[in-house]
Amino acid sequence: MDDLIALECKALTKRFGSLVAVDKLSFSVQKQDIFALIGPNGAGKSTLMKLLTTILPPTEGDAFIENISILKYPAKVREIIGYVPQLISADGSLTGYENLLLFSKLYGIPKNERDKRIQQSLETMGLSTVAHRYVSEYSGGMVRRLEIILAMLHNPKILFLDEPTSGLDPIARKTVWEHLALIHKRDGVTIILTTHDMQEADYLCNKVAIILKGKIVEMGDTEKLKSALGEDATLNDVFIKYAGNSIEADHAYKEIARRRRTESERGS
Ligand SMILES: Nc1ncnc2c1ncn2[C@@H]1O[C@H](COP(=O)(O)OP(=O)(O)OP(=O)(O)O)[C@@H](O)[C@H]1O
Ligand SMILES: [Mg+2]
Repeated sequence: MDDLIALECKALTKRFGSLVAVDKLSFSVQKQDIFALIGPNGAGKSTLMKLLTTILPPTEGDAFIENISILKYPAKVREIIGYVPQLISADGSLTGYENLLLFSKLYGIPKNERDKRIQQSLETMGLSTVAHRYVSEYSGGMVRRLEIILAMLHNPKILFLDEPTSGLDPIARKTVWEHLALIHKRDGVTIILTTHDMQEADYLCNKVAIILKGKIVEMGDTEKLKSALGEDATLNDVFIKYAGNSIEADHAYKEIARRRRTESERGS
């Protein structure tokens, strides 16, 4: 496989009963790309993330992260990826520092390096002053920034983020973007994210894929996709062109209801 490729999917498929959530996806992402998966509710974005991060096994097909098969070597894949899930994952009953300490132990970071690594990452994300406060007292933007450094503590080669800024106010959202851009520039990490926010995809991502009902219907350079539609076209125009007609109101409603239920069950 090409040395420049960070991720390659080969006919990757996930079925839940008769529902095909991810449908024979074959595509690749280059190293150091910031790649956005966009698509309506229920398109299969989170399911794809869960397959690539080895949380769910595929029904068929395979994917390779830095040449390592998710099917054959899931534990090895986990060592080189970071994952920020769609729903809140940091523990609110611990402080930011304690969350980081817990993860540094899980990742097997040597004891004498832990404190330095934690202090550095808190500083990168502008969280040093709140390190010893309970996460339950953090704002949504602070929680998200903490989750990003939790996912980055072991210096992964690829960082997966599922809707990193959903529910955040415009300032918190911009702060998360700036910090992501900073770690991308500094560490050269490949970033794969999902978002419903076209401004976010446009600001952060050099590549975009539009996913509908488990299939990628268009993929390419963000700038090329926009300019193909005209001089002043935005990513929103691109999204509407490919996904506009597919959003069935009833389906979208069911998806949102399902998601709200899950979120309220989790108390988030
Ligand atoms: N564990 C599961 N069991 C059964 N069906 C599931 C499961 N997880 C997801 N699905 C279904 O798979 C499809 C894709 O869901 P997924 O969560 O991947 O969509 P998404 O693109 O992330 O949507 P959203 O934008 O709302 O987050 C949906 O129809 C969903 O209802
Ligand atoms: Mg999702």
